[in-house]
Amino acid sequence: MCGIFGYVGKRTDAGTIAIEGLKNLEYRGYDSWGIACTAGKELTVSKDIGPIGGIRSEDFSAPCSLAVAHTRWATHGGVTQRNAHPHLSEDGSIAVVHNGIVENYLELRRDLKEKGHTFQSETDTEVIPHLIEEELKKCGDFAEAVRNACLHFDGRYAILALHTGSNMLVAARTGSPLIVGVEKTDGVLNGYFIASDIPAFMKHTRIVQYLDDGEMVATDGKMIRFQDIKTGEVREKREISITYHIEQSQKGDFEHFMLKEIMDQKESVTRAVNQDEGEIRTIAEAILRAKGTFLVGCGTAAKACMAAEYFFSVVAEHHVNFAPASEFKLFHHFLKPESLLIVVSQSGETADVLEAMRIARDKGSKVLAIVNVEGSTIDREADYTLLINVGQERAVASTKALTGQLAVLLLIAYAMGERLKEGRTLLLETASTINDMLNPRFVERLEVLAAKIHKNENLFIIGKSWNYPMAMESAIKIQEVSYVHAEGFAGGELKHGPIALIEEGTPCIVLTGNDEALQDILSNAQELKARGAFIIGVGPTKFDIFDEWIKVPDAGSAQAILNIIPIQVLAYFLAVKRGKNPDMPRNLAKSVTVK
Ligand code: AGP
Repeated sequence: MCGIFGYVGKRTDAGTIAIEGLKNLEYRGYDSWGIACTAGKELTVSKDIGPIGGIRSEDFSAPCSLAVAHTRWATHGGVTQRNAHPHLSEDGSIAVVHNGIVENYLELRRDLKEKGHTFQSETDTEVIPHLIEEELKKCGDFAEAVRNACLHFDGRYAILALHTGSNMLVAARTGSPLIVGVEKTDGVLNGYFIASDIPAFMKHTRIVQYLDDGEMVATDGKMIRFQDIKTGEVREKREISITYHIEQSQKGDFEHFMLKEIMDQKESVTRAVNQDEGEIRTIAEAILRAKGTFLVGCGTAAKACMAAEYFFSVVAEHHVNFAPASEFKLFHHFLKPESLLIVVSQSGETADVLEAMRIARDKGSKVLAIVNVEGSTIDREADYTLLINVGQERAVASTKALTGQLAVLLLIAYAMGERLKEGRTLLLETASTINDMLNPRFVERLEVLAAKIHKNENLFIIGKSWNYPMAMESAIKIQEVSYVHAEGFAGGELKHGPIALIEEGTPCIVLTGNDEALQDILSNAQELKARGAFIIGVGPTKFDIFDEWIKVPDAGSAQAILNIIPIQVLAYFLAVKRGKNPDMPRNLAKSVTVK
């Protein structure tokens, strides 16, 4: 997934605001960056591998009023300077930045080469400016040329294209996000921003116009026109003022967003729990009434869904089905119009989740979205949305979004069991213990533990009941920022294979709670200990079997929310001790908008 940004209007510092825009999109990808800007005929292009911080702003000090910019998460073509966006047409008058995949690019590239086009990169993207150039020769209008070019693409994409000849900025999207920002001064139009996400231009305007899938927009900074890509039909779009709070999260005193967002949980879980009770009851009734409820999500959000299966079963005695969103299409046979699909996603842009929603809607089922980003594609395409309100999450490793998702899902489970007040009290009490738990001594102990085990290349985590999905989530956290091979298992599954992996000193984390699963998980821990494992117990009670014990308050059915937090801290320090940047883990991006 990549970040794309464009501006056209009265400003003459388009290059500078493009750099700023990229910095606010860096969480979407940071393999390489690139900017193209123009004040008329000449095009200035600069691009390189590495983080946005490498951009020299003085390279863009010359006045320019039209710019496109890109921060890349590589899909086709290695991380090289030549593969960085923007890519140019043969005559150099068209610059394009792109998020997504042109699935039929090899065929298009071959046809274009036969027409004399030459290519500088290995990317799928580079066919786009050349294709637009060919279409421009035929129709003479840049916006129409972009539209005709899009009709040749297979796959999901969001593109931004500028043309020095017409001073136009044109964008088109199918399956990847794009949003228009309208900049005004005292009510007078200044220009337009077009970007992957609102934070890219929020400093300049909170007036937006949403571009929906299958639509394009063309603007020269004075006029703007929205169209359907397929038919060319003009679409009217309202200007919407973003009134909700998009916290432009900054690292503040923290070295990394990941640690800052872990600490945000001192109050973000409370915010997630403070939902409108009527809304929670309505959702609970919808789940109880549905003929088959499916929970889907990806990665960490999928682990929240897995934990919810236990919440709904134990707290509400109600059966729901879980599937990773990427697997969901194999289950569509069960879906009926009376079925309910619950999708969980922090970003609200994950391609696999969007596909699951479309499958459900094709069957006439309703879709409930539990997301963190208001105005995201999933939010706008769902039948109803519950926001977890944990504030912007910029670190690739999802932390406060997970505990917010768990809190909301557990609250719904209590509402389904007609025990909403009890659930809300439990969750607010649990949330209130986080501040005390995340005290400096607690954090320091985890840093010392990370120092002790950071040289181990393997690490295992076991849990039972809702701690089983948290064991798997623990593995994701540790894998994605420290690159340690971590794996999470159901404790009872060890003896069926994984226990063969245990050697003398292998670190094994055991997630516990004062619940019916406790004795079984302690027995599993014995099996590990007997084979020489180094046992790290996490939970409210200390047991002799633990070589290390991370004390976590007793939270009953909300234990999963507290147990995962020390693991987040441990994962963070493992990354730091292993010399990795936890905010920019290799090969990953914050929101996976490609399938
Ligand atoms: C979590 O730490 C990962 N970054 C990743 O698994 C993430 O949870 C997954 O891509 C889903 O993202 P979403 O919640 O924005 O849909």
